[in-house]
Amino acid sequence: MDNIAGSPVEGANFFGRSAVAQDLWDTLQNDDILLLGPRRIGKTSAARAVMTLARDSGWKAIEINVAACVDEKGFLDKLGAELKKAIDSLPGKLWDGAREKLGALGNRIKSLKLGGFGGTVDISLSGPDSDDWSKVGNDLLTLLDELDDRWLIYMDELPIMLFNIIRQDQTGGVLRVRRFLDWFRNDVRALAGAQKVRWLISGSVGLDTLVQEHGMADTINSLNHQSLPPFSEALACQLIRELAARYTIALDATAIARLVAAIRWPQPYYLQVAFQHLRSLVNAAPATPPQDLIDKAVDQLIQPGADNDFHHWEKRLEMQLSPDLARLAKALLTQSATQPSGTRAENLLATVQQRHPNATDDEALALFARLRDILLRDAYWQPDDSTGGRHYHFPLEPLRRWWLRRNSL
Ligand SMILES: Nc1ncnc2c1ncn2[C@@H]1O[C@H](COP(=O)(O)OP(=O)(O)OP(=O)(O)O)[C@@H](O)[C@H]1O
Ligand SMILES: [Mg+2]
Repeated sequence: MDNIAGSPVEGANFFGRSAVAQDLWDTLQNDDILLLGPRRIGKTSAARAVMTLARDSGWKAIEINVAACVDEKGFLDKLGAELKKAIDSLPGKLWDGAREKLGALGNRIKSLKLGGFGGTVDISLSGPDSDDWSKVGNDLLTLLDELDDRWLIYMDELPIMLFNIIRQDQTGGVLRVRRFLDWFRNDVRALAGAQKVRWLISGSVGLDTLVQEHGMADTINSLNHQSLPPFSEALACQLIRELAARYTIALDATAIARLVAAIRWPQPYYLQVAFQHLRSLVNAAPATPPQDLIDKAVDQLIQPGADNDFHHWEKRLEMQLSPDLARLAKALLTQSATQPSGTRAENLLATVQQRHPNATDDEALALFARLRDILLRDAYWQPDDSTGGRHYHFPLEPLRRWWLRRNSL
C-alpha cells in the first residue's frame, strides 16, 4: 500500500473498507444512498470501490461531481455529458439510437433558460412552450430505461450545489432546492426506468443540516443515510504497520499505537498525513529513531501552510449555518478545545446563555441542543460520560489542537 494523502485511493491502496463498500453495494440493491461526511473521510474512495463492485456485476457506473454547478441546468449538463461519455464508449450499433437521443437532449439542456424555474426566472421569458429542466431531466433518465443495463450514478457534492443555488438566488433559491429534492424524490422514482438506476449521493457539507434548517427534511427521508465510521484501533495500527513496512521505517507496536492515539479519531486520511510527515522527518534525520519523531510529525499537521484540511471544518460551519449560529458554534468549539477531554455540557450551555441574554432558559437549551446535534453529527464533537458529568470533546485531536492554535494569540 502506498502512502497517499489527498487523492482518492483505489485498488491495493484502498485499505480496510472492502466490507464497507460491499455493505453499500448490498444496500444499493434496494435503496439509493446518501453518504455524508467531512472532507477527506474517504467518500470518493469508497464510492469508487462500490462502482467497481457494480461494474463487476455487469452494471454501468458513472461519476458526476456537481460542486461547481450553480443551477439545475448545470446539473443536467454534467449528467448528460457523463452519460454521453459512457454511452459513446460502448461499442456496437445497439447504442446508436441512445447516442442520437442523448445528442438531442444535450441541445435541449443548452437551450434551457437560466435555472429553468424559481424566483430568478422572468415569467415573460418562459412562455408556454419553453422547456422545463425537470422535464428534460425526466427524459434524460427515461432514456436509460430503453437500454438493457442497470446504472449506478455516483453524484458527489450535491449539498454544495444546493448551497450554491441558495446563495445565488436569494429570493427563490430555497424554493428551487425544495423543488429539486422533490423532483428527485418523486419524479425520478416514478419514471419508467427508475428500477434500472440507483443513486449514490455524497457530500462533505451537511445536506441534513440544510434541509432541517429550511424545514424540508421530508425530501431526503427516502434516501438511505450512510456514513464512514473511523477505523478500529487495531485496523488503524495495521494501516500504519503496512505503511511502515512498505517504506522500511522501523516502528514497533508501542510507537504505532502512540501515533494512532495522537490522531485519536482514526480516519485513514489523518493517519496517512501523519505518516507522510513522519516519512519526511525520517528522511531528513535518518540517525534519529523514528519513534522520537512522531510528536513532531503530528505537530506539523496543524502548522500554518500544512493545515489546509482543517480550514474546511471552519468554513463548513459558515456555509451551513446563519452567521449568528456559526459564530455561536465556533465559540462553543473554542471553549471545548481547551482540553482533550472537552468541556462540561453545563459550561457550554452557560456560554449560550451569556451570548443570548434575552433568551429564556428553555430557548437557550433548545439553541444549545440544536447546535450540539449538528456538531455531533458532523464529527466536531463526541459525547463523553466517563469523567463525571457529560462532556463534549473533539474526536479528532489534531483538529482540536488546530482550533486552539487558530483561536488563541
Ligand atoms: N480506504 C482507504 N484506505 C487508505 N486511505 C484512505 C482510504 N480512504 C481514504 N483514505 C485517505 O483519505 C484521503 C481522501 O480520500 P477521498 O478522496 O476518498 O476522501 P473524500 O471524503 O472523498 O474527500 P473530499 O471530501 O476531499 O472529496 C486519501 O488520499 C487517503 O489518504
Ligand atoms: Mg471526494
